Amino acid sequence: MAMLADRFGRSFPYLRLSLLEACNFRCGYCLPDGHHAAHGQPSLLSLPEIERLLRAFAALGMRKLRLTGGEPTLRKDLVDVIALAASVPEIEKIAMTTNGVLLRRQVRDWRAAGLTALNVSVDSLDRERFAAITGHDRLDDILAGVEDALGLGFDAVKLNAVLLRGLNDEQLPAWLDYLRERDIAIRFIELMQTGDNRDYFERHHVRAEALQSQLEAAGWRAQPRAADAGPAIEYAHPDYAGRIGVIAPYARDFCASCNRLRVTAKGDLRLCLFGEIGIPLRPLLQDDSQHELLCATISRQLGIKRDAHRLHQGQTGLVPHLASIGG
Ligand code: GTP
Ligand code: 5AD
Ligand code: SF4
Repeated sequence: MAMLADRFGRSFPYLRLSLLEACNFRCGYCLPDGHHAAHGQPSLLSLPEIERLLRAFAALGMRKLRLTGGEPTLRKDLVDVIALAASVPEIEKIAMTTNGVLLRRQVRDWRAAGLTALNVSVDSLDRERFAAITGHDRLDDILAGVEDALGLGFDAVKLNAVLLRGLNDEQLPAWLDYLRERDIAIRFIELMQTGDNRDYFERHHVRAEALQSQLEAAGWRAQPRAADAGPAIEYAHPDYAGRIGVIAPYARDFCASCNRLRVTAKGDLRLCLFGEIGIPLRPLLQDDSQHELLCATISRQLGIKRDAHRLHQGQTGLVPHLASIGG
């Protein structure tokens, strides 16, 4: 069967699957005041539906799966989902992005079920700042969970911090201390405007370029990027065990290296984080006999994937917040 490819010569070995839209945090950039992702939860894809979905994507060339949310660890059968993904022979990497609250209690089970990589959102290493950004005073717990994870032999453990003017954009020294001895990556993400965070965006958006210049001046060097990597430019430094990534969605050519597709918690295929349309795959996940049709549908839809997002022209997409699509 043909590998997934689009009109612009890009291929798609990386699928981001959102397991549910609910989240137990209230990060200001994601769910600004008054918005709650948990409202009107659709019934979640069942394990058999997820299995058919993964088998189709795997047949089309998907080799890396990332589980996202909302907060994916709120899904009661998460360990079963991971084990299911691990049972699909073509899938080589199973990653998850989490807020980390359940790490201490559950990370061993996830690892044993077959999870190979972990990204944890840690917007600040300062306890008060962390609480102010996320609405939850859980930094110590989360960092302890990260230490647990570092001992479990994951291929990679990465932290994510959304760069926020006035909230965490002057904390590089604390991060550098943290990275000196730890085999971990911290990625600084430029805040993206969504349908729901316009005021927050105006107040806190800061471009990532300044940080990149600062890193280069301090001897950090950009590293070559793997074919199934996410969108971060990763920097390394001989004096540090850890690495620093920068995710700059407003940078020129950001989309040229896009290698990923998304499926929402309702089973809609999203061709772009900021795309307008979701293509419902759920009707094709009801029995195994639809496998070929499912594969053909996914391939055909790729034909309409655009070259790039339109954020520069003021598009926020119909995405109310990233939790609804899994970032
Ligand atoms: P790995 O490199 O596999 O670790 O993945 P990743 O960095 O893509 O995963 P993660 O879920 O940690 O995402 C980090 C940030 O990158 C989030 O804010 C995502 O929304 C953002 N991101 C990931 N893929 C894209 C993309 O295709 N477009 C844009 N604009 N942002 C993305
Ligand atoms: N802009 C940038 N990153 C965001 N995230 C959530 N919303 C936004 C946004 N508007 C990040 C979270 C998490 C990842 C999945 O997406 O901090 O690390
Ligand atoms: Fe790909 Fe869309 Fe992200 Fe651009 S915004 S990198 S096209 S998913």
